Amino acid sequence: MDVRLLGVCGSPVREGNTEAFLDEALKAAGELEGVTTSAVLLSQKKIGDCRQCNWCMAKQENDRPCAIQDDMMEIYPRLIEADALLLATPTYCARLSGYMAAFMDRFRALVLGKCYRGVLDGKVGGAITVTWLRNAGPETALLSVVSAFLMWGMVVVSPGEGGCQFGAVGLSSVGGTGRFDPKDRLGVLKDDVGMASAHALARRMVQMTRTLKAGRQSLGKSQ
Ligand SMILES: Cc1cc2nc3c(=O)[nH]c(=O)nc-3n(C[C@H](O)[C@H](O)[C@H](O)COP(=O)(O)O)c2cc1C
Repeated sequence: MDVRLLGVCGSPVREGNTEAFLDEALKAAGELEGVTTSAVLLSQKKIGDCRQCNWCMAKQENDRPCAIQDDMMEIYPRLIEADALLLATPTYCARLSGYMAAFMDRFRALVLGKCYRGVLDGKVGGAITVTWLRNAGPETALLSVVSAFLMWGMVVVSPGEGGCQFGAVGLSSVGGTGRFDPKDRLGVLKDDVGMASAHALARRMVQMTRTLKAGRQSLGKSQ
């Protein structure tokens, strides 16, 4: 059964730790049969803030989910087509990044929009974060993403046994201590526990998507 997994990186840093962490998770999922992965890097996109103009609720048109004509226009169709969304954010002030927050606010058009209302319902969601210090906010960062998934009617997946159950946490300083090697920009790749958790989360998202799709098929539902 085919699974389309879309990853979104919410770090302003190109080729940084969050991007590398997401990439690893997508690779692990992509090794499974029938899985297609792709990624959106918010650092490369121009995405304005939702202004709560409510155009989407009253005047939304097919093929025009939002009044703001920016890079979300090319991302909306990818969100609609995806079976599963893996959102990756750096931990900023113990929560998601501003880039990721602006991006997620624009989901209003898919949650409450006149034409697209409900398209996220039943999709699978997973969250990953990269943090500098082990205990300086990764869990609350993940929760700021996961709570939105729940509000949107999505099915949230955890990485499973051990580690953090809200999503996968990667440490970008050595062991999350704050020490680092200035020659090594991608400390997260050395965090074996974080890596295993990201791989497990992405694979479990695929498994959950397949289970849900098979269930819908057996019930004769297209979505
Ligand atoms: C504005 C800002 C806020 C941050 N807040 C936290 C924090 O609360 N806890 C933490 O451990 N690291 C924090 N960091 C560090 C980042 O989470 C860390 O450097 C991470 O590796 C960034 O990922 P990147 O390499 O993809 O940019 C913060 C960094 C910035 C720029």
